[in-house]
Amino acid sequence: MRLLVTGGAGYIGSLTAERLLERGHEVVVVDDLSSGHAEDVPSGAHFVEASIADRSVVAALCETHGIEACVHFAGRIAMGESMVVPERYWATNVGETLVLFKTLIDAGVDAVVLSSTAGVYGTPDQLPIDEQQPTVPASTYGQTKLVVEQVAQSMAALGRLRFVALRYFNAAGGAPGHAERHRTETHLIPLAIAAAVGHRPALQLFGTDYPTPDGTCIRDYIHVEDLAEAHVLAVEAFDRGLTSLIANLGTGTGYSNREVLAMVSTVTGREVPVVEADRRPGDAAELVASSALATEVLGWVPRHSSLEQIVADAWAGYQAAFGTLPLA
Ligand SMILES: NC(=O)c1ccc[n+]([C@@H]2O[C@H](COP(=O)([O-])OP(=O)(O)OC[C@H]3O[C@@H](n4cnc5c(N)ncnc54)[C@H](O)[C@@H]3O)[C@@H](O)[C@H]2O)c1
Repeated sequence: MRLLVTGGAGYIGSLTAERLLERGHEVVVVDDLSSGHAEDVPSGAHFVEASIADRSVVAALCETHGIEACVHFAGRIAMGESMVVPERYWATNVGETLVLFKTLIDAGVDAVVLSSTAGVYGTPDQLPIDEQQPTVPASTYGQTKLVVEQVAQSMAALGRLRFVALRYFNAAGGAPGHAERHRTETHLIPLAIAAAVGHRPALQLFGTDYPTPDGTCIRDYIHVEDLAEAHVLAVEAFDRGLTSLIANLGTGTGYSNREVLAMVSTVTGREVPVVEADRRPGDAAELVASSALATEVLGWVPRHSSLEQIVADAWAGYQAAFGTLPLA
């Protein structure tokens, strides 16, 4: 297929673009580089630096390249920041996405794969979390992702849009040329690696009194390679007649923060300096996915997501991107 990938200079989007190209699809990347890295866009993709809200650029790309579907990663991703400057999250994740939807539909592109998040669930009633669980986001970030799903659902009900929304749990790991290096990093594994090599101060461990075996939060880590594969399968499912799907992407196995830090120490051969801190508001004790729906409908099976492989690939990506020498 001929695909528009928004946010294709970012962590998950750039690797997905590469895997889509390898599968024989044509890829056009639109990214404003607000947090992405131009050098991470795979060389086989046509790259345009622009906002998804730039109607004339996106419309022209759809027409010139005969775009058939869009894989939409572009957006703001920091849950904590969304509670401090929520308007930025509503403007980009919702406002600009709605502009993108309109531009795509006006250009005859009616199929979209959306990046959603486990953050739509808030604190779950039961584990593992399946898609029937109530959606009560605890952050503005989660709310914005849920609203976009709801917009897509209402358009799909009228036959105006086909969509697959993929609710990622904790994206992690890396691949050559696709290290996790968000400009403002908030994710545990890259922060722990940076602390271990001395590029950052001690890691703040938020909450050590949760009702979990070691008192720290438990999360379901999913390798970015497995996420990329899910997007490839989602795009290809449109050709088989899929019209709408909202599906979790996780492994069903959770690891506590302390278990993750221990694995970072093992893999890097360095201790992770830690400072214990209070709980953060909105952090659930445990988030673990049921991804049975993605397996059933898309045929998706995570193959790269053992904790050891995730941390080893994150470490390889970190060394390639930053080295391990003291920062100048
Ligand atoms: N990383 C995770 O753990 C995680 C978990 C759940 C969901 N997600 C979602 O997955 C998507 C990708 O996340 P990521 O980790 O790769 O983030 P990222 O910041 O690495 O990638 C986002 C990309 O979008 C681009 N972008 C942002 N606003 C744009 C705009 N208005 N126009 C054009 N480009 C724009 C950025 O420059 C960046 O390259 C996001 O939508 C995020 O909400 C990520």
